[in-house]
Amino acid sequence: MIEQIGILDFGSQYTQVIARRVRECNVFSVILRYDTPAREIAKAGFKGLILSGGPSSVYAKNAPLPDPAIFELGLPVLGICYGVQLLAQYLGGVVEPGQKREYGKGTLRIKDRSCPLFKGLPAELQVWNSHGDRLTRVPRRFKAVAVTENSAYAAIENRSKKMFGLQFHPEVVHTPRGREIISRFVHGICRCGRKWTMRNYIEQAVEAVREQVDNERVILGLSGGVDSSVAAALLHRAIGDQLTCIFVNNGVLRGREAEVVQEVFGRHFKMRLKYEDASRLFLRRLKGVTDPERKRKIIGRTFIEVFESATRRAGKAKFLAQGTLYPDVIESVPIGGNPAAMIKSHHNVGGLPKKMNFKLVEPLKCLFKDEVRQLGSVLGLPREIVLRQPFPGPGLAVRILGEVTRQRLEILRHADSIVVEEMKNTGWYYKIWQSFAVLLPVRSVGVMGDERTYDYTIAIRAVESQDGMTADWVKLPYALLEKLSNRIINEVKGVNRACFDITSKPPGTIEWE
Ligand code: XMP
Repeated sequence: MIEQIGILDFGSQYTQVIARRVRECNVFSVILRYDTPAREIAKAGFKGLILSGGPSSVYAKNAPLPDPAIFELGLPVLGICYGVQLLAQYLGGVVEPGQKREYGKGTLRIKDRSCPLFKGLPAELQVWNSHGDRLTRVPRRFKAVAVTENSAYAAIENRSKKMFGLQFHPEVVHTPRGREIISRFVHGICRCGRKWTMRNYIEQAVEAVREQVDNERVILGLSGGVDSSVAAALLHRAIGDQLTCIFVNNGVLRGREAEVVQEVFGRHFKMRLKYEDASRLFLRRLKGVTDPERKRKIIGRTFIEVFESATRRAGKAKFLAQGTLYPDVIESVPIGGNPAAMIKSHHNVGGLPKKMNFKLVEPLKCLFKDEVRQLGSVLGLPREIVLRQPFPGPGLAVRILGEVTRQRLEILRHADSIVVEEMKNTGWYYKIWQSFAVLLPVRSVGVMGDERTYDYTIAIRAVESQDGMTADWVKLPYALLEKLSNRIINEVKGVNRACFDITSKPPGTIEWE
């Protein structure tokens, strides 16, 4: 079994970040609910446990509490923020409300540099704090190994029991040497090797898929997005022609999208790829429709219809593959407005009806997005696919305000290709969450040469986000905006004005519909 670290989630917005940091140390990690029974934890064979932070106070009435027996398992434990307060409280220390909340950057002074968490690190480190309560007495046989201005117990240890606690957050980027602290915990203290790599994962996953699928057939709905593309490449490596991918052209794709998918998966990987060009059907059904939710419903329903029929024609298959990721399956702890707890209700998760009666294959279900991208690269997928920004299922239909017509689609595709091209040329495309063009249904007056024009407006949208739940507009350089505006207005027939959207989410949404 692969070495792994268990992370008990007490509702911190950073729990997934902890899990990712551990994996960046090439050690596998899983997130568990805070109240997972100790016997389950013992059975899972973890090499160590991390207790996450959380928004509660350990002495609050509804505070999430772990099974106390976890402290008797003999496993190395690292408590972070709320986690260290729990550790202290359970083992006989004292936690009190702080006079003032310690929030933001602080300086950690390491008093005992032989502490295995800090070995080899400088005596002073910049750290990030975010806590109200604080430790005022450590449990017996624990001692303080580092302090901050406001806390005499910023880091504590019981070295012989391999129990450690940090009042600050080593997992966030504002603790610049935090990764090294986590690495010292997982490698130095828990004695994990560096076995978690995408190359090793491929081997394991290929074997697991073969075992699950045996000699049955698998269908996969390929959208051209990162997740389904990487799932396709992985499954193809595992089961070759037992996999059939179905790619539906819904008429509202971006320029070249259908070609790229056919080129990469059909011609390069030589997968069994069924290309279903249903664009006419979709566009016929979208005719005259202006309401955004109706557009979404029509596209969703029609997709299922086309996909089901393509599936039937592809021959009998027992399995349906999906590119579900780890954040979709983690059971989030809905404490105190933790945004991670809301992600599952979001419209990106959904998909095909249960009645299709397939068994599911989900080969990415323990991976984070950045790992999926790495996996895709190792499997030989091009950068164009692996580093692709998210694109909504209803495609350009929700970026054409008002009715979707062929003429409007053509205008938007052209403008969008300019945005993508310039964003890629300047490297901005790869740094941000999404960037795209939106076609507004209003016309305004302009002059081109000596002629008066009366044409459409393109809005340019560029946003920064972690998960699509909240977003900030990106302060693109003026030179880039100028280039985008010039090119769009000069090259796209039917457009005489360009705007830049400076709305954050909330209160706006990322898409315009
Ligand atoms: P909003 O516009 O809600 O978008 O701020 C958040 C994220 O979700 C994507 N999005 C969709 N994805 N079907 C999808 O598969 C949809 O109907 C849909 N609407 C929005 C959007 O691109 C952004 O990444």
